[in-house]
This record gives sequence, structure tokens and C-alpha cells, in this order.
Amino acid sequence: MYSYYFLTLAVLHSCFVCAQSVSHPGKCKLVFSSDEVRVICDSVTFKQLPSKDFPDNTTDLTVNLSNLSSITSDDLKILSHLSRLSLTRNQLRTLPADLLLGLSNLQVLDLTGNKLTSLPSRVFHHSPLVELTLSDNLLSEIDPDCLPVNSSVLRLDLSSNKFTQLPVAFLERLNNLESLDFKNNQLEELTPGALNSLPKLEALYLENNRLKFLDPSAFIGNPNLRQMFLSGNRLESLPAGLFFKQEELVFLDLRSNYLQNLTPGILDGRSFAVLSGNPWHCNASLTYLWNWLRMNEKNFFHDDKITCQTPEHLKGRNITEIAATELGIKG
Ligand SMILES: *[C@@H]1O[C@H](CO)[C@@H](O)[C@H](O)[C@H]1NC(C)=O
Ligand SMILES: *[C@@H]1O[C@H](CO)[C@@H](O)[C@H](O)[C@H]1NC(C)=O
Ligand SMILES: *[C@@H]1O[C@H](CO)[C@@H](O)[C@H](O)[C@H]1NC(C)=O
Ligand SMILES: *[C@@H]1O[C@H](CO)[C@@H](O)[C@H](O)[C@H]1NC(C)=O
Ligand SMILES: *[C@@H]1O[C@H](CO)[C@@H](O)[C@H](O)[C@H]1NC(C)=O
Ligand SMILES: *[C@@H]1O[C@H](CO)[C@@H](O)[C@H](O)[C@H]1NC(C)=O
Repeated sequence: MYSYYFLTLAVLHSCFVCAQSVSHPGKCKLVFSSDEVRVICDSVTFKQLPSKDFPDNTTDLTVNLSNLSSITSDDLKILSHLSRLSLTRNQLRTLPADLLLGLSNLQVLDLTGNKLTSLPSRVFHHSPLVELTLSDNLLSEIDPDCLPVNSSVLRLDLSSNKFTQLPVAFLERLNNLESLDFKNNQLEELTPGALNSLPKLEALYLENNRLKFLDPSAFIGNPNLRQMFLSGNRLESLPAGLFFKQEELVFLDLRSNYLQNLTPGILDGRSFAVLSGNPWHCNASLTYLWNWLRMNEKNFFHDDKITCQTPEHLKGRNITEIAATELGIKG
């Protein structure tokens, strides 16, 4: 009877401070719902995770901003019901290779904001991960064998790390991947074939890297791409045929590159493209873009200012408002 009341109260409040069962009274929250038991520790200092004080059917554990500097598989393995684990904004520098041993239900792992420089071989072999987030760490390479071949991961986030190249051998294990986030790294080029192992890829985030050039075959193995983010790079041009295979590509972000012109065909079939922050050169060679913009005006985003940078007499002009004769297009 008591436990029924306890649970009802918890469900009613949906978020209550669980002083009874967690060893840091008033700090970790316990949230119950019909199929989830969540423990949320936000800004609680931990030397070691007090897992034995958490409910043993915990499905969702968040330890955020807690300066956790080490963790062992013993800290986690009694929580065999875990399906989501977030150890975000802590001080983890390494992970033990057996970290996830026994976590055979774990689907979502988020290690955002730690100090990881490498990952041990086999570290993610023990769980059926679907979503893996390693954003905002210090990774510049990755051991391919940290995941099994034909990994079940669908969404991978490696953003805000120190990569200068795509980790090709690692990506080869991710043939089920649908979303790859690689923004805020230091990529200067996409190694030819680097993405060929990702036939199911639908979203690719490459913004804020240092890409100058894309090979015409860069995305040939990714016919299912729907959204592509390339803003904040150093692209001066895009090769003809770059998106030849991408019939599903509806959204393309090319903002803040060094584009002066756009190769005819690049936007065919795209419904949405964001193009501001490029030094467009407005002469007759820009006819393809000028036409596309006029035909797709209804799909613009309000703050996307697509203006001429050169020649001087057209500087700052909205490209859609330039007359054909000004551009030098003969009737
Ligand atoms: C978790 O365990 C508690 C206490 O034994 C039980 O009341 C609750 O229904 C369980 N919740 C789930 C989602 O299994
Ligand atoms: C974590 O460490 C930082 C820097 O030493 C400190 O300012 C912060 O209060 C610590 N947070 C916790 C939850 O102990
Ligand atoms: C961690 O805390 C920060 C600051 O309160 C918050 O923005 C973030 O969403 C939290 N992350 C998780 C995984 O709870
Ligand atoms: C690869 O993984 C997918 C989904 O995880 C599975 O359906 C498929 O059977 C696996 N293929 C092989 C060859 O193991
Ligand atoms: C437009 O300007 C570019 C750069 O100066 C030049 O290479 C190109 O030939 C010009 N196009 C036409 C049609 O004049
Ligand atoms: C540019 O012109 C188009 C069409 O007239 C208009 O919809 C858009 O708001 C204008 N953009 C700016 C930044 O003025």
C-alpha cells in the first residue's frame, strides 16, 4: 500500500527529489513513468557513481556537469535495464574497454563534453547502440574496432572534436548509419571514397570545417541523402555532377563559403537551399543561380540574404531583384 502511494505520488509530480533511494539527498532526481525509470544527476559532485543506490530497474541515467573523472564497468553493470546513458559535461579522459559489459539493452550513449582523446578497442561492442554521441571531446582519430562490423548505430555525432580527416576504417563499420554529424572539426578534404560505406545516410553535417574542394564522386555512395550541411567551409566552387545521385536531397546548406558562382545543375531537384554569406559575382555566368532563385522564391528563408559581392556597381543587391539586362543576359 505504501509503495503504491509512493509511486502514485511520484507519477503525479512526474519529477520529484528522491532523498530515500539516492545517496546524494536532494540532488539526483528520480522520475518514473509507466515504462521508464530515470535518474538525473545535474551538477552533483561524484568521485564514484553510487549505482547501487539507484533503482536497479533504472532505464535512463543522466550524470551531467558533475566532474566525474573516471568510471568502471562495475559502476554500471548492476544497471542492466539501462537503455539510455548520458555522462555529459564531465572530466572523463579515458573509458575502460569493458565499460558497457552487461548493458545489453543500452541503445543511446551520450558522452558530450568530456576530455576523451582516444577510445579503447571494443568499447562499444557490448550494447545494441542506435545513437552514439561523442561531441565536444578531443578526438582526432578513432580505433575502428571500438564498434563491431555492421554496427547497429543509426546516428553518430562526432562534432566539435579535432579531426583533420574522416575516420574511414571506422565509418566502414557503420553501414546502417542514417545521420552523421561531423561539424566543427578541421577537415580540409573528404578522402575519396570515405563515405562510400554509408548507403543509408540521410543527413550529413559538415559545417564549420575547412573544406576547399569536393571531389565530384564525394557522395556517390550516398543516394539517400536528404539534408546536407556544408556552411562555414572554404568552398570556392562545386563540381558538376556532385549531387547527381541524390534524388532525395531536398535541403542544402551552402552558407558562408567562398562561392562566386554555382555550377549549373547543382540545385536541380533541391527545394530548399541556403546560400547567403558567399561572395556572388553577378554577371551572365550567374544565370543558373538567378533563374533558380526566381523559380524557388517561395522557399526562401527570411534571413537568407543572397546578394552580389561583385562587380562593384551591383554590390549588396538582392540577386532576385536584378534585371536580366543588368546581369548581361540577352533577351
Ligand atoms: C521499477 O521498480 C519499481 C520498484 O520495484 C516498480 O514499482 C516499478 O514498476 C518498476 N518500473 C519499471 C519501469 O520497471
Ligand atoms: C566542477 O569543477 C569546477 C572547476 O573546478 C567547479 O567550478 C565546479 O563547481 C565543479 N562542479 C561540481 C558539480 O562539483
Ligand atoms: C546538462 O546541463 C546543461 C546546463 O544546465 C543543460 O543545458 C544540458 O541540457 C544538460 N544535459 C543533459 C544531457 O541533461
Ligand atoms: C547488419 O545489420 C542490420 C541491422 O542492424 C541487420 O538487419 C543485418 O542483418 C546485418 N547484416 C549482416 C550481414 O550481418
Ligand atoms: C563572369 O565573371 C567571371 C569572373 O570574372 C568570368 O570568368 C566570366 O567569364 C564572366 N562571365 C561572362 C559571361 O562574362
Ligand atoms: C530579395 O528579393 C526577394 C524577391 O523580391 C524577396 O522575397 C526577399 O525578401 C529579398 N531579400 C532581401 C534580403 O531583401
